[in-house]
Amino acid sequence: MEFFVTFFVLLLLVKVSLDNLAPAAASQDSSPRHYGLYYSSGEYSRRYRSITRLARERIERLIDAHIALVGTQCPLTIIDYGCGNGRYFLDLVQIAESRCLSSVHIVGYDPTPDALLQFKALASEHGFFAGAPDGDDSATLSKDAVKLSLIEGSVDLGVDQVAALLPAADIILCLFGVLSHIPRRCQRQATLRMLRGKAATLVLSVPNVISNRSDYDLFEARRSRCCPDRDAVERGDIYYTREAVGDFFYHLYTVEEIEQDCEAAQWRVDQVGCATVAPETLLTTTATEEQRHADYEQSKSMARSMLDHMALYFWLECKAVTN
Ligand SMILES: C[S@@+](CC[C@H](N)C(=O)[O-])C[C@H]1O[C@@H](n2cnc3c(N)ncnc32)[C@H](O)[C@@H]1O
Repeated sequence: MEFFVTFFVLLLLVKVSLDNLAPAAASQDSSPRHYGLYYSSGEYSRRYRSITRLARERIERLIDAHIALVGTQCPLTIIDYGCGNGRYFLDLVQIAESRCLSSVHIVGYDPTPDALLQFKALASEHGFFAGAPDGDDSATLSKDAVKLSLIEGSVDLGVDQVAALLPAADIILCLFGVLSHIPRRCQRQATLRMLRGKAATLVLSVPNVISNRSDYDLFEARRSRCCPDRDAVERGDIYYTREAVGDFFYHLYTVEEIEQDCEAAQWRVDQVGCATVAPETLLTTTATEEQRHADYEQSKSMARSMLDHMALYFWLECKAVTN
């Protein structure tokens, strides 16, 4: 009797963990609905609070390169594509202020309304007020030389419709796997092409299929048993689960694939590096300063030849190809 009970419990545990990892029947565009819950429950901001030191340094370097070209008096526009709850916003404002930029426009685009609500609340807490000097759009907040526009998108919009919502910019940030939530490679490429029409510099970070190998293998194993329509998903596609929130479609990349996608969208990849080499647990708020520092040093020095094996996410910097 004891044997059967133990066996049944074990069976149940295996089933629960596989179900959590890769529900083959989940819809590919479940992200925004689940992201709403992820943000409104406070789970996202509990897990991910600040940007990494390396990301901040790299963004500073890009802004400094821009200033070196055009000076501090020329307006700077940055699009944060898939901005979420504005995790990079205060750092961007600090960087702009420390460089005494005369005019900075930060544009946050996201299809999850709850994320933008939190972004707006964050900006208001830090003295940004609604109603820009050049209009009374309530999605625009300003303070001193910095203007913030929040644009609510939808996953149902085509790339041309999204393009119509976004202004021309100098730098686009598309960080922490935003691109990976877009199902199908052709759609991700179309998004990169659309962003190419908006700015000459793009910074991306996307998750590495090899560092996420165990998730991928389990997903593949389950898919081959449960999902007869294997062509409906592409190599690198997985679902991951956040407790009490749901399952997220996610595409895991090889360096080769993301480079090819950038190039197909007329982005010249200038730099590929590690966004972080630490496991996911060290990206969350539970990581100690010492652990973060170790990740910073390792990520910074990681040679290109080690990328495939070591990076948890890749970091790419691209320039527009001009004919
Ligand atoms: C992992 S979060 C990253 C948010 C933010 N960039 C950060 O680093 O905290 C992914 C974000 O992508 C957004 N997203 C999902 N599908 C998207 C799409 N098709 N286009 C743009 N953003 C999308 C989600 O709403 C979510 O805020």
